[in-house]
Amino acid sequence: MCGIVGAIAERNVSGILLEGLKRLEYRGYDSAGIAMLNGSRDKLTDLKTVGKVKKLVTSASKAKIRGNLGIAHTRWATHGKPTVANAHPHSSSKEIAIVHNGIIENYQELREKLLKDGYVFKTETDSETIAHLIHKERKGGKVSLIDAAKKAITKLDGAYGLCVMDKTEPDQIVVARSGSPLVIGVGIGENFVASDPLALGQVTDRFIYLEEGDVAKVSLGDIEIWHGNRKINRPITTVESRSKDAEKGEYKHFMLKEIHEQPQVIKDTLDGRISKTKVLEQAFGVKAREIFDKVKTVQIVACGTSFHAGQVAKYWLETIAKIPCSADIASDYRYREIIVQPGTLFVTISQSGETADTLAALRYAKKKKYVASLAICNVATSTLVRESDFCILTMAGQEIGVASTKAFTTQLALLLILSIVLARRTGLKATQEAKLVKDLSKLPKLIDKALRLSKDIKRISKQFSDKYHSLFLGRGIQYPVAKEGALKLKEISYIHAEAYPAGELKHGPLALVDSKMPVIAVAPNNDLLGKLRANLSEVSARGGMLYVFADESIKFESDKSCKVVNVPISPEVLAPIVFTIPLQYCRIMLP
Ligand code: M6R
Repeated sequence: MCGIVGAIAERNVSGILLEGLKRLEYRGYDSAGIAMLNGSRDKLTDLKTVGKVKKLVTSASKAKIRGNLGIAHTRWATHGKPTVANAHPHSSSKEIAIVHNGIIENYQELREKLLKDGYVFKTETDSETIAHLIHKERKGGKVSLIDAAKKAITKLDGAYGLCVMDKTEPDQIVVARSGSPLVIGVGIGENFVASDPLALGQVTDRFIYLEEGDVAKVSLGDIEIWHGNRKINRPITTVESRSKDAEKGEYKHFMLKEIHEQPQVIKDTLDGRISKTKVLEQAFGVKAREIFDKVKTVQIVACGTSFHAGQVAKYWLETIAKIPCSADIASDYRYREIIVQPGTLFVTISQSGETADTLAALRYAKKKKYVASLAICNVATSTLVRESDFCILTMAGQEIGVASTKAFTTQLALLLILSIVLARRTGLKATQEAKLVKDLSKLPKLIDKALRLSKDIKRISKQFSDKYHSLFLGRGIQYPVAKEGALKLKEISYIHAEAYPAGELKHGPLALVDSKMPVIAVAPNNDLLGKLRANLSEVSARGGMLYVFADESIKFESDKSCKVVNVPISPEVLAPIVFTIPLQYCRIMLP
């Protein structure tokens, strides 16, 4: 999850670049670097460190690195280890420096050709290839930087958000976007670039969002953009400061802060979308009614946590709306042959709206005969929103924690609303809708109650500190909830965690269960409870240690081999959202 910042000004921009990198730290990274130029006679200076941006800031201050043109990067290693050499910026012939987000799939082939041309590679990265390729296309200065970059990117297979500077053309930064987001920050007599506008919040609130395939030349007082051979204008959008989101406040971690924001953001997400008795369909936009009337089945596509939300929604769509629904992982869907039933609505779910596989799936779907594409997304200005036929936004505010929490629960709230509006067309009565909406309006309070379980969870968390593996179990609609719990634990604690539909336990995974393998189960009070209890007995019989999150009404009892955490009683339809909350708390299990 790399980050890019670039700046061109009449003043020294090193502070702007380093502050930008700090603002992107939340994305996760393992090394950082900066390259700068100060006027035409300057030599290209770069500085790179492994570890925190703080280290880079200290080195930059010692080295007194300065310049009016610069690019900077935080790297998350994909090709080659996290080393100083592999950190960006990468350079070619001491003239060109680049920073790159994304992955170049044909880099080996390009590297071999460039080696034959005499280029010397100093890194194991795919990105270094781009620096040499652009240098080669410059033909010793006969071709301008912008034209060389345009030519070079035609040779790249893969994804890139790219920033290039060249010692011999020190009045510009060249940028290009394909599969990885880039924005241009518009200043007065100075301009900036970044992979996320948040990085530039200290210098501007005006942004140009580059579209897929755009290439731009960013100079002091001018921004020129090309799409293919056409020179084009892209609108400038003013973006409100997200500085409050970017502060941890009283919380130790962003993830904890975001977990606690859920009652409020769920409320914000439901505001204006439901009345006391019904869902306000116009929340989906003006085209929605006509589209929904045509829908007979739903295809959901997403990645990671957002995919889990889609899997929960499949149950709602099939039980409440009686509409067949498939939920697919975007990285799989985009590469396979698909058969589209007439009347299928294509739905993507994404926090960022910039996930490459989800975007690629949307573009693939657009070539098929879907009724329309709906995006459920948290970022109004994202590519996903812009490229979908219509959208509904989660009002989660910026999610800075890499592990998704509030985005997931707000997505679920909207997916439930979607199920209700479609159910209206398949026989849901007004009284039934009123009951569902009444239940939904209780959600912020229920989440608030569930958040109070933190103490109980902290108590049992100590028993996890010496564990390397864990199993999460859920049945039916709670299986994706268990998957989400397992994802949170592995992402945050690095404890190996797998989720299984509880009924599958006896078909193999039970063999792994012993006293060293904690088994976490979600047990709402529903029709499958009896079956789940039977599965949990299988775990006890193998000497497994059970941690059961159980609906308070069940009165599940703790004993030596089973610790129970009582989850607030909730309407059955809301149980997947309410049970998610304690599973997110794995964050507090850590010191
Ligand atoms: O921005 P998106 O929702 O499209 O991101 C998809 C996944 O990368 C994301 O949900 C990821 O799985 C979570 N951050 C994990 O907590």
